Amino acid sequence: MTITGAGYVGLVTGACLAEKGHEVICFDIDKGKIEQLRRGEPPIYEPGLKELIEENIKEGRLHFTTDSKEAYRQRDVIVLAVGTPEKEDGSPNLSYLKNAVDNMACHINQNCTVVTKSTVPPGTNEKISYWIHSMKNPALKVEVISCPEFLREGAAIHDTFHGDRIVIGAASKEAGDLIEEMYKDFNVPIVRTDIRSAEMIKYASNAFLAAKISFINEIANICERVGADIEEVAAGMGLDNRIGRHFLKAGIGYGGSCFPKDTKALHHIAGKVKYQFEILEAVMKVNDRQSEVMMDKARTHLGSLKRKKAALLGLAFKPGTDDIRESQAIKLAKALIHEGANVHVYDPVAMHNAEQELGNAVVYSGSMGEALLDAEAAFIVTEWEEIIEYPLSNYSLLMKEPVILDGRNCLPMEKMKENNLTYLPVGRKGFIPPIC
Ligand SMILES: NC(=O)c1ccc[n+]([C@@H]2O[C@H](COP(=O)([O-])OP(=O)(O)OC[C@H]3O[C@@H](n4cnc5c(N)ncnc54)[C@H](O)[C@@H]3O)[C@@H](O)[C@H]2O)c1
Repeated sequence: MTITGAGYVGLVTGACLAEKGHEVICFDIDKGKIEQLRRGEPPIYEPGLKELIEENIKEGRLHFTTDSKEAYRQRDVIVLAVGTPEKEDGSPNLSYLKNAVDNMACHINQNCTVVTKSTVPPGTNEKISYWIHSMKNPALKVEVISCPEFLREGAAIHDTFHGDRIVIGAASKEAGDLIEEMYKDFNVPIVRTDIRSAEMIKYASNAFLAAKISFINEIANICERVGADIEEVAAGMGLDNRIGRHFLKAGIGYGGSCFPKDTKALHHIAGKVKYQFEILEAVMKVNDRQSEVMMDKARTHLGSLKRKKAALLGLAFKPGTDDIRESQAIKLAKALIHEGANVHVYDPVAMHNAEQELGNAVVYSGSMGEALLDAEAAFIVTEWEEIIEYPLSNYSLLMKEPVILDGRNCLPMEKMKENNLTYLPVGRKGFIPPIC
């Protein structure tokens, strides 16, 4: 089978299918990426991926190419995993998909099934089918299936082998059965549905998770005002099975390559059918505002941020990945720069990606200690293990003013007093040492 697009989704899917014994070739138009992959080096950071790729290259089940003929000739199954980034109006940009499909349609030379993993609006798989049929050899039979991806970066391999569900949206039973067979060795429940419902399941799921995050952030903001503690409130809420404990973590807001773009896309999809998705509008608005809440706190406690050294700890949109797309850390870095602060950043794996986004507007520190040295505020944005486990005593030793703004509520609040730290989390009472 062929995987088109060797990014976060395509690479993980390809490596996991190869691990289960399938013969997989990953095709990408990015020559540098493919060169790197042929050497067994993944161009992204994802725990366990390097080992999986190396092992399957060695076993001869996983190959990489930029050659369309090699990619698309004599293939039974072609998986589409190219990006669908947002356009300025919030709608997904389907041009990468269109180019990939046109290229594929020119080269396929046998009947096959095309499986779309890219996140696309309802009706897109029908369009893909139309694009293919208008270009391919008319004698060939090609069926298009929607199989949206639900993996989480940072846990992508685990999620592929042990996800909550695999959704297969197919027009015919035979094509659906074929893809179900492809996944038979994965220990994951299969949901069979029609194509448009499958496409919608993906957007509805991400919008719902984003709503949970914005909801708990609103509750956190109220907790601060009424003297309640969001961590206790969330724990108490989460014990109710109807609510569940996941995605009730208050913080600086969601980021990444999926939630921001998929919420905007769903809002756009609703707008196109003349439906005003009011809850989703509020979800996005709250998320946009949440980093500003943290900036307000910084201003209240530090006064002007001009020429102050700010340590920004964590740049990836979440721990376990080097992905900085729509990361709250990048947004916060830009806001701090805008206020005239001297921003020193640190992340265990995402520095290189951040450099492309922030250029020389910030200082890239080689360690947490380097970022914290003489800083007047530390902003925690990604809850990496290294950041959680960093000794609290070092903050007071290294910083000029030991003020910690914890955008992920990941540090132990009860230990702030003994370390003489000013601690400003989200939705908690925090701790401000008394003035002696
Ligand atoms: N990243 C995630 O966590 C995640 C999770 C679920 C769903 N998705 C969805 O999966 C899709 C892919 O996301 P991603 O994060 O893997 O994207 P990505 O940007 O990491 O990878 C996309 C890859 O496609 C390649 N590409 C572009 N045009 C091509 C073409 N014509 N032929 C072959 N390759 C081409 C690019 O070079 C790139 O390597 C998106 O629709 C996204 O919304 C992503």
